[in-house]
Amino acid sequence: MYIFEVLYKEHENIHAFTDKLEQMAINFMEKNEISFEAYEEAINFIKTYADKRHHQKEEQVLFKAMLENLGEMANNLINHGMIVEHNLARLYVWELEEALKAYKQAPTTVLKLKILTTIMSYVYLLRRHIHKENNAVYPYAKKNLPKDLIEKLDLEAKKYDGVL
Ligand SMILES: [Fe+2]
Ligand SMILES: [Fe+2]
Repeated sequence: MYIFEVLYKEHENIHAFTDKLEQMAINFMEKNEISFEAYEEAINFIKTYADKRHHQKEEQVLFKAMLENLGEMANNLINHGMIVEHNLARLYVWELEEALKAYKQAPTTVLKLKILTTIMSYVYLLRRHIHKENNAVYPYAKKNLPKDLIEKLDLEAKKYDGVL
């Protein structure tokens, strides 16, 4: 089942990235070390990989199929849970970008605090989110979606990833 394998693998990469991001926040907090280029790279990873490649694939392929086939339970789990968290992650990243821009212009303690708190909000959100998907959402989908539909989703996910 390509779709689940690839989503789990992406979770591993995103989880490893949150560790790196946390370390960047610690370096900034303890040593006042900040590399704007490193933050730009990190934000680029979030936008192109965590959001576009991973979250949008979930939304357009797996979650769409769950909403169409699994009734009220999926509606609660996806629309009131996972999608809300994807949007919250997008908000934190936007806030982080704004705080970094402002800090570059005028480094203040308030902005430093904002950078640190938005980073850690994103990190904790993503770790909780990944845990829920790995342990509740994906197993639920695997168990309840019809096998032939999962095969179709495999193809759609491959197309999305450009491997087909
Ligand atoms: Fe997600
Ligand atoms: Fe995910």
